[in-house]
Amino acid sequence: MIQSNTDEKPNNNPAELEEEEIVIEQTLRPQGLDEYVGQTGVKNNLKIIIQAAKKREEILEHLLFYGPPGLGKTTLAFIVAKEMGKNIKVTSGPAIERAGDLASLLTNLSEGDVLFIDEIHRLNKAVEEVLYPAMEDYVLDIILGKGPGARSIRMELPKFTLIGATTRIGLISSPLRDRFGATYRLEYYPKEDLEKIIFRSGQILGAEINQPAAEEMSGRSRFTPRIANRLLKRVRDFAQVQGHDTINLDITKQALDLLEIDNLGLDKNDRRILETLINKFSGGPVGLNTLAAATGEEEDTITDIHEPFLIRLGLIAKTPKGRVATEAAYKHLNILEPASRQKTLL
Ligand SMILES: Nc1ncnc2c1ncn2[C@@H]1O[C@H](COP(=O)(O)OP(=O)(O)O)[C@@H](O)[C@H]1O
Ligand SMILES: [Mg+2]
Repeated sequence: MIQSNTDEKPNNNPAELEEEEIVIEQTLRPQGLDEYVGQTGVKNNLKIIIQAAKKREEILEHLLFYGPPGLGKTTLAFIVAKEMGKNIKVTSGPAIERAGDLASLLTNLSEGDVLFIDEIHRLNKAVEEVLYPAMEDYVLDIILGKGPGARSIRMELPKFTLIGATTRIGLISSPLRDRFGATYRLEYYPKEDLEKIIFRSGQILGAEINQPAAEEMSGRSRFTPRIANRLLKRVRDFAQVQGHDTINLDITKQALDLLEIDNLGLDKNDRRILETLINKFSGGPVGLNTLAAATGEEEDTITDIHEPFLIRLGLIAKTPKGRVATEAAYKHLNILEPASRQKTLL
């Protein structure tokens, strides 16, 4: 399998990778569609198009996966390549700086290979322009020379499948979006699916987990497999240090409390965003840039990671004027909601 690094940097985002986690992620990554838990709609649909393409001995159409980080987009891309029996080459929007970078990726593919572009919303315009004819007709238009004397030559490319992944579907230009044969939205995972993932991962890691412990972890996993696996790993480490063979509810609660992950799965940063919204802006509405400045978070981190989760929990609502903290947010943080606010905003 060909594989190049995505330029993911380690950081503190709850849904992104730390160096040491990369190995674990790979160990835990399901290898086939049947091992991939949940997302039934997406899976069934993929099964059909994969089978159809194989039957007709055709190249699989270009696919776009979108949804919050950690829901299994990269995993799916690998699975699709494997089910097609093809190689996958991995890169990301920001890693492809120039049209030439893309050209060399494309010319090095073999017929039917998958090119996976993560964070495809971050491709620059010049690169995107080169991608259009490549996706549509499997050709590369290369411009030779500059100015009035410049001419363009056309080069045939091996037929390939592009799989794009993004956390921000809204930032993908419509010409690019239109060139994908199918677009799939990955949904947050229900608790039962996360439990399955936790048990599956526990088995791979050789950690014994009882049902109440798995339920507790799944309930604090932000509906996200990556987080479920991360919590499991931390809880397992904690249990080991404490000399427990089986991960039970008590040990799970202790470990998660130590990590400052509360009963809804909010971490310190989520709570800080909510507290800022409530304490500094009287619960909102407040615009994204103001909230980012006041919390010291990147705007992207708020929109990609915290906001979708807090909205899903009903702790934040988006209004035309900005974000507002809901009554549930006040309750969750144990802050008294001013009576004057209750009816006017929500
Ligand atoms: N449906 C799933 N079933 C089992 N494990 C999953 C599933 N989706 C994701 N995971 C686990 O979560 C981790 C993160 O998934 P990944 O594909 O990297 O997410 P994304 O690319 O959407 O950020 C993977 O290592 C994998 O182990
Ligand atoms: Mg990914």
